[in-house]
Amino acid sequence: MNAHDSEKVIGTLVSQGYAQVPTVEEAELVFYNTCSIRDKAEQKVFHRLDQFKRDGKGKTFAVLGCVAQQEGEKIFEKAPHVRMVCGSASYNQLPQMLVQLESGNRRVTGLSLDTEDTFETPLTRRDNPHRAYITVIEGCDKSCAYCVVPFTRGPERSRTSASVIAESRQLAELGSTEIQLLGQNVNSYRDPSPAAWDFATLLDNVGRVPGIRRVRFTTSHPRDFVKQIVDAIDENPALCNHVHLPVQSGSTRVLEAMQRLYTRDQYMQRIAWMKSARRPIAITTDVIVGFPGETEADFEATLGLLDEVEYDSIFSFKYSRRPNTSALALDDHIAEEEKGRRLAILQEKQRQIQIRRNAAYVGVVEECLVEGFNKATGQWIGRTSQNKTLNFLHPVEDGDLTGRYVEARVTRAGPNSLAGEYVN
Ligand code: 5AD
Ligand code: SF4
Repeated sequence: MNAHDSEKVIGTLVSQGYAQVPTVEEAELVFYNTCSIRDKAEQKVFHRLDQFKRDGKGKTFAVLGCVAQQEGEKIFEKAPHVRMVCGSASYNQLPQMLVQLESGNRRVTGLSLDTEDTFETPLTRRDNPHRAYITVIEGCDKSCAYCVVPFTRGPERSRTSASVIAESRQLAELGSTEIQLLGQNVNSYRDPSPAAWDFATLLDNVGRVPGIRRVRFTTSHPRDFVKQIVDAIDENPALCNHVHLPVQSGSTRVLEAMQRLYTRDQYMQRIAWMKSARRPIAITTDVIVGFPGETEADFEATLGLLDEVEYDSIFSFKYSRRPNTSALALDDHIAEEEKGRRLAILQEKQRQIQIRRNAAYVGVVEECLVEGFNKATGQWIGRTSQNKTLNFLHPVEDGDLTGRYVEARVTRAGPNSLAGEYVN
């Protein structure tokens, strides 16, 4: 989502007459897009800003994104060389803010969260000519006890279905074949226009845009994930065989403390829908270990859930205290060392699951979208519908395969990727 925000900001800047340069050294104006989802990401921001101060004499610095929204004008105190601080909900005001900067205002801020608008911009500068992101909903109306997003990205705002479809068509005309629909919780998408599409309808229709061969979406909240989404995947070949469904914990007690609004059983019901689909849907998730009050038994429930679901891959994190969040007030915060121990156990268990699952692909022919060539290994990098990386050999002299759909047979499998040979 941040990567796509940067694409929109770059598009806006270019439309104002700025030119993008490849390195910070060459820039006069430096926009730094930031993440504050966990403490580590945030610390990195201040470290980098310090570095910029030393190396960036004569440059103008702007801080964008969630750290900007969260820290606001405090950033000017911590990093006095910064001249603009702007959260994502205010990006539609960037052109005016740039004018203020250029006309000599020392400091400019865009920190309002009460904007009605989504950041519509036809000016987005896409990084990848084959795969494109489209935001369908911004912000989040949930209040998960650990999460800073509702404070940094504000309340939910859905785009109209007409504008999402128009953007999809335009991208297809420009040569994109894969679209990834984005939102903090795409499942709570509600078309504000009279058509009143829900997310499953939007997804299906994006998959019907001529020229679009693959559609992905991220991220889903289990509470709002409905069976119609699985049915749409079953019926529409353009929708990818992959659902990312963050569980966070396998213990209903912890889920309740996290205010996730579902039980383990309800989550497993969604998994059952996907497992009984006609298509082989890869399932991935996010897990937090060491949430305040998580007991050894709760943690073991999460380990048991991994065995039960057999995810294709997971993102896993140690719980990190975030400003404004309700979990700060909970008792029984877990020691860092213990969180580290749990994370290592969880990741090792998942590694074994992935080794086992991926081994089952040996001998199978998969269609891949070729993402590029890895000079170090001499292999082409392909991505399957299930979002697995499949590296394969093909003579470079025979031309650039990037952006093409090819078939490759899996010959070897590791925990994190597949390797194979080109078929056609
Ligand atoms: N601590 C640890 N992990 C977090 N995430 C969000 N907030 C926190 C936090 N405070 C994780 C969740 C979410 C993913 C994007 O980041 O797993 O799904
Ligand atoms: Fe954060 Fe929960 Fe909203 Fe996801 S659904 S962005 S975890 S508050």
